[in-house]
Amino acid sequence: MTVEDWEKRWKLEQTGFHMDQVHPMLVKYYSKLTRDKPKLRFYLPLCGKSVDLKWLSDNGHDVVGCDGSDIGCQDFFKENSLPYTSEALPESTGGGVLYQNKEKNIKLYRCDFFKLSPEIIGQFDCIWDRGSFVAIPVTERGRYAELILQSLKPTGRYLLDTFQLPHQNYQGPPFNTEEDEVNKYFGQKCTIEKLAVNNVFNQKHLEQWKVEYFNEIVYLLTSK
Ligand SMILES: C[S@@+](CC[C@H](N)C(=O)[O-])C[C@H]1O[C@@H](n2cnc3c(N)ncnc32)[C@H](O)[C@@H]1O
Repeated sequence: MTVEDWEKRWKLEQTGFHMDQVHPMLVKYYSKLTRDKPKLRFYLPLCGKSVDLKWLSDNGHDVVGCDGSDIGCQDFFKENSLPYTSEALPESTGGGVLYQNKEKNIKLYRCDFFKLSPEIIGQFDCIWDRGSFVAIPVTERGRYAELILQSLKPTGRYLLDTFQLPHQNYQGPPFNTEEDEVNKYFGQKCTIEKLAVNNVFNQKHLEQWKVEYFNEIVYLLTSK
């Protein structure tokens, strides 16, 4: 799916991925990710209108998100009753826009992830990746991983939430992610710790999606 395809989904309100509460895996592994340090720089690639952005800001961090959808970025601020400003990003971003609320230290880059370089957004202490690595086309995973690694400070930590599911009857996204792929893309530069394996679908969901299993696997990656 292209950024334009995603924007169509947003227009049609096909946003079943959005959660109204803070993601339980972020809450559970928050201390492991942050080592309880204050005022960290957080990056949420392909963030949508995730309420996690606000939660992290409420916890005192500087929060940067990136999403290709204007609707997603604007809805985040509107639904959280946060005023925001908007400004054009450099041409290299292909017409991107920066939405921000300075008081809460939240910046949302409405931009194709692949056009947002660390020169523009800087590097981060923590990255929270939910519905992001698993959403981009599988053929783009190498490029995605490269940019993520460039965006991580040498001391940075990366919480990666993935799914395992069969694609016989369900095309995706999300796209299946095996542990050896995580190793392939990140293993040279990061130490990888598998934190959780959760069976997230009940029988009804499995039947709806026509999949035999749907597991969430959460990893913590730390720079070597
Ligand atoms: C599955 S949703 C996950 C959203 C969010 N992480 C969450 O947990 O609610 C994937 C998001 O990625 C965005 N997206 C997809 N491809 C993108 C790209 N190349 N650059 C920026 N955003 C992209 C879509 O607009 C969509 O909001």
